[in-house]
Amino acid sequence: MENAKSTEVTLSDFIERLPKVELHLHIEGTLEPEMLIALAKRNGVEIPYRSIEAARNAYHFDDLKSFLNVYYLGASVLREDRDYHELTIAYLSRCKAERILHAEIFFDPQTHLANGVALEAVIGGIHAALLDAERDWGISSALILCFERDRDPATAVKLLERACALGNITGIGLDSAELDNPPGKFQTVFAAAKAMGLHRVAHAGEEGPPSYIWQALDMLQVERIDHGVRCLEDPSLVRRLIDDRIPLTVCPFSNIALKVFPQLSKHNLGELLAAGLLATINSDDPAYFGGYLSENMLHTFSNLNLPVRDALLLQRNAVEAAFCSDQRKQELLSALNEYNASHHVLL
Ligand code: ADE
Ligand code: ZN
Repeated sequence: MENAKSTEVTLSDFIERLPKVELHLHIEGTLEPEMLIALAKRNGVEIPYRSIEAARNAYHFDDLKSFLNVYYLGASVLREDRDYHELTIAYLSRCKAERILHAEIFFDPQTHLANGVALEAVIGGIHAALLDAERDWGISSALILCFERDRDPATAVKLLERACALGNITGIGLDSAELDNPPGKFQTVFAAAKAMGLHRVAHAGEEGPPSYIWQALDMLQVERIDHGVRCLEDPSLVRRLIDDRIPLTVCPFSNIALKVFPQLSKHNLGELLAAGLLATINSDDPAYFGGYLSENMLHTFSNLNLPVRDALLLQRNAVEAAFCSDQRKQELLSALNEYNASHHVLL
């Protein structure tokens, strides 16, 4: 008992102060119940929760679709430039507290446009917060515009051009309800993004089959796969992901909350690493799934009995997978190496 306790404390401290990178984070998924209720009131938006507690109680899901209903409802309270700024600053202050030095942030503009919010307010609010965090806390970031795969792809290129004219879009992604919405539908906008010099990622193999990962690679030419945990069902796909060093942005708490795996001790992150895949660890929608990055790491490590050195491996993988400059990657690697040198006794 004494031993178990001291191991836990050591792992917790190690992870808490470890320099970290987060690559799979939906900014709308950081909307904590407190802010949800406050913004609904401030903006006069009707929501079906009377209290913070009632909102929190609604955060139980059967699958991805049932989560998305709650998530899009939550996003409907975001209306003004300052709402996006406050939401993003709140997440970045978590980054500061958890020593996340670089964050790549997804947003869902089609949802906000459908709610009658101007694209300028969405991008302006988020982007101003990213600049504030870089200036005040030295946190670097990238902004990734996600297309919702259960919406019509026909208007996607126009939206991308408008967003890029507003500035500072690093890449595009593909999210929302995966089943019956194969990546191939979005080939045109992904080709346009590539021609514009943008980075490209897609959610695939979260609930959907390995064939959706193949499509994301071959038809969308993505550089990273978000989730991708179902790749292990197809050995030739695993070979391809390893050979091309395609990173997977794995989100353990999300996979448990959405019942991709029945419990954390059954998650396949350890197998993904053992297979030699370039896996990273991320929080996805932390306000809805019960924890931010450090907690995802801590609980995943203790449930899977992963060695502490895998925490370093996951973070080195994340630096390799990040869409930042080579100079910034060197800084992030130096921070990791320095941390490792002062903790090597643990490894
Ligand atoms: N949007 C927000 N979180 C998501 C997830 N886990 N999968 C697909 N779309 C999402
Ligand atoms: Zn996601």
